[in-house]
Amino acid sequence: MKLVTRAVKGTHDLFGDEIRFQRKILRNARQWLESAGAFELATPVFEFTEVFQRGVGQTTDIVQKEMYTFSDRAGRSITLRPEGTAGVIRAFIEHGMKVMPQPVRIWYAGPMFRAERPQKGRQRQFHQVGYEIIGSDSYVADAEAILLSYKILESLGLRQMRLRIGSVGDSQDRMKYNEYLNSVLTPHFDDLSTDSQRRLVSNPLRILDSKAPQDIALLQELDVKPLLEFMGEKSRKHFESVKKALEDLGIAYTIDSRIVRGLDYYAHTAWEIHHELLGSQSALGGGGRYDTLVETLGGAPSPGVGWALGLERVTLAMQAEGLSPDAASRPLIYIFPLAAEFAEKALLAAQSFWPQVSAQYSLSAKKPAKGLREAEKRGAKYAGIIGQDEAASEAITIKNLHTKEQKLLSLKDAAALLKGENNEAH
Ligand code: HAM
Repeated sequence: MKLVTRAVKGTHDLFGDEIRFQRKILRNARQWLESAGAFELATPVFEFTEVFQRGVGQTTDIVQKEMYTFSDRAGRSITLRPEGTAGVIRAFIEHGMKVMPQPVRIWYAGPMFRAERPQKGRQRQFHQVGYEIIGSDSYVADAEAILLSYKILESLGLRQMRLRIGSVGDSQDRMKYNEYLNSVLTPHFDDLSTDSQRRLVSNPLRILDSKAPQDIALLQELDVKPLLEFMGEKSRKHFESVKKALEDLGIAYTIDSRIVRGLDYYAHTAWEIHHELLGSQSALGGGGRYDTLVETLGGAPSPGVGWALGLERVTLAMQAEGLSPDAASRPLIYIFPLAAEFAEKALLAAQSFWPQVSAQYSLSAKKPAKGLREAEKRGAKYAGIIGQDEAASEAITIKNLHTKEQKLLSLKDAAALLKGENNEAH
């Protein structure tokens, strides 16, 4: 196929069922999140590269290998956003949102870009809906965030989900843990992948996130202790409180002591929601607390917590559980002209019904039998026929395809009849 007739590898066009799944997910997310007091924020799809280098972290795979980075015409380094949180925090600082009543609750949705190896459930352009609570360090905010993502997924009908929760402690805990990792892994330096040899120097914790079989085997062989065992009193207490709150809220979870997440900004709680019927890319979403990200990006300290769900993954999960997307829209009426010269009258009729009534019309002439068949094929309840008499008098013949009843009505009366039905289930 020619390059110009093919979407770039790892990207795809959304239409039909797929976009209706995404629309349903977004509608439910908006309803839940706005009912909880969140406002929507749409940040640009590209930012200065530094926002992600600093925000997501220099030692992450995302920053080192997966960003779409380019120079703009003025030679500034720009990156297509690989995730939403860093941009949201940049906007929080830029617009002085710290003076708003705290915490602020922000939701967002849109495309994200990561140059990963494409496979089922993993694209280079994918879509997320996300939620951030900025300005509170309370464990209750962590519980609220998890609760809302869970409720959104449940509201879509999903049942086969597992919440995996862990903690990455605070910076002191991680320092202690990194020392420990250093001491156990340095004697086995040669057995590590080259990436992990680099990580051992820059950020040993990242080795736990490695997908290289030799790293996974080594960590298993050495029976490396989890970070949870290195957490101080404060971190342990926070984690216990979050777990207790989830139990009180009736949200089942499993502890994942090895949860690392692919982003550097996390502190304390980190979680992922996996789906049991999806293969290797089973995370529907993930999130966690980030207590120093606002400072890292140049703002006054403000702790936060949040998550993002992947719309393509949630769609796959819904399909796997046999759930349906939003119904395809059907017209209430399908209008056709009996002769080509009445096509404009058909448009005139349709526009007098729009937008309350879903009305489609034909641009070409149709014989009655063919027009009626076409109306049925499109799932319309009514057919509208424009012939010589109708065209001459701003009228339309309306046929109820269920009762077969037919009457000639002025456009005004027809509009009143159809608007009365107002797209009731038909
Ligand atoms: P993340 O875990 O990197 O977190 O991404 C969240 C979700 O986006 C994943 O669980 C997955 O469903 C989806 N996703 C990620 N990469 C891809 C891909 N290449 N193709 C398809 N889907 C993908 C974040 O992005 C954080 N910003 C979440 C967060 C918000 N943490 C705090 N606040």
